[in-house]
Amino acid sequence: MSNLKPKEIVKELDKYIIGQGKAKRSVAIALRNRWRRQQVPEDLRDEIAPKNIILIGPTGVGKTEIARRLSNLTDSPFNKIEASKFTEVGYVGRDVESMVRDLLELTVNTLKAREQEAVKEKAWQIAEERMLDLLLPKSEKHQAQKSDATAETHLELLSSSGGDESSSTREKLRSMLRNGKLDNRYVDLEVSDRAMPVVEIFSNVGMEEMGINFKDMLGGLIPKSTKRRKVKVPEAMETMAAEEAQNLVDLDKVVKQAIEKVEQSGIIFLDEIDKIVGKNGTQGPDVSREGVQRDLLPIVEGSTVTTKYGPVKSDNILFIAAGAFHTVKPSDLIPELQGRFPIRVELDSLGWKEFVRILTEPKNALLLQYLALLKTEGVEMVFENDAVEDIAKIAEEVNNMTENIGARRLHTIMECLLEDILFDAPDLHEKRLVIDRLYVENKLKDIKDDEDLSRYIL
Ligand SMILES: Nc1ncnc2c1ncn2[C@@H]1O[C@H](COP(=O)(O)OP(=O)(O)OP(=O)(O)O)[C@@H](O)[C@H]1O
Ligand SMILES: [Mg+2]
Repeated sequence: MSNLKPKEIVKELDKYIIGQGKAKRSVAIALRNRWRRQQVPEDLRDEIAPKNIILIGPTGVGKTEIARRLSNLTDSPFNKIEASKFTEVGYVGRDVESMVRDLLELTVNTLKAREQEAVKEKAWQIAEERMLDLLLPKSEKHQAQKSDATAETHLELLSSSGGDESSSTREKLRSMLRNGKLDNRYVDLEVSDRAMPVVEIFSNVGMEEMGINFKDMLGGLIPKSTKRRKVKVPEAMETMAAEEAQNLVDLDKVVKQAIEKVEQSGIIFLDEIDKIVGKNGTQGPDVSREGVQRDLLPIVEGSTVTTKYGPVKSDNILFIAAGAFHTVKPSDLIPELQGRFPIRVELDSLGWKEFVRILTEPKNALLLQYLALLKTEGVEMVFENDAVEDIAKIAEEVNNMTENIGARRLHTIMECLLEDILFDAPDLHEKRLVIDRLYVENKLKDIKDDEDLSRYIL
């Protein structure tokens, strides 16, 4: 999914997000530019800085949704975070540099998992040898006490091979192992036992600025304690294979690759950026918010962030910010930060026509979700088209009448509409339910027409 063309990216996003063509286009272009930059000769590549984007749009129109879906589409390191989570350096909380650290951590983990997957087969082979080593001494001992009446039956098979040299016994055992004939046997296995209760006392929050993870640190200090445990053969194989896979992967190489990837093609989605706009002033908590903006500047502009894996340059990381900008405007951001987000895209607010599509079209459409939920109770629900239209229209009306919360309104309305069915579903005699106009009207009309009531319920 890595080098999709802009058109293909938009097409993928279309599967989940209705409308918002402009926003999809601009993020698709930005994503493609990441890939294009990779193809440019190195000396020029370093000169090409990413063009950061701000997505602006009312609440509930798909900003966060775009970010979520985008993360699955790109092979670039991708991290989505809420700007409101951060506090100015010096205050208790997460400092902005942690987003680069998190991005790297994520990338290291993904790459590590990928590498381990690649050596899976080899690791399994090694684990198999280890397993045979574990099993063999026992079976030899067993041969010695052949006459033992309590002998386990499946080892009888082995002993019947009599005085064969150990290599053929080993091969026999191997084929038994592969055919699952030993699945019910237990072996003694050394398992690392790192569950130190002490560690749980520390919280990572506040320690972030050091780039140190306490668990890792203590985990390293306290000698790795191992515990002998009896485990079944298949489980032991899994454990040993995982261990061997870890040993086979060259962590230094992975880290180097990860840093390179983050520096060259990382993307950070900075959600809720409007929440760090301080309202015209320097009082109270707003000081801290502007502080966060100031802290953001060097990172967006390009600086070096220290991480536990080493320094990471943020010069070429692409930032996509998003915010509702209800009460504040993008121009309320501190000027330096505005300049670092040259591309502005406005998302459209949604009307009933979009709501109809949102209810039915996306792969994870709300109606499909309810159908699937009720199907587990053996109830088949059918929505008539004009009923769906009515639901959408009511959503728009309520949005206009009270507060516009965009597509989120659909969630509250659907819950209200289906509450009785969801409650009674297990006991219903009639297993086929048709939701028609009349049903919608009965359930929702009174609430909708009473403004006060709808303020509370819908
Ligand atoms: N254009 C859309 N197409 C499909 N679903 C949408 C669309 N817009 C919003 N939704 C649905 O509405 C819900 C809220 O959307 P989302 O989280 O993207 O809002 P937002 O724009 O980030 O709002 P906020 O500013 O409050 O964070 C999600 O469940 C999402 O699936
Ligand atoms: Mg959001």
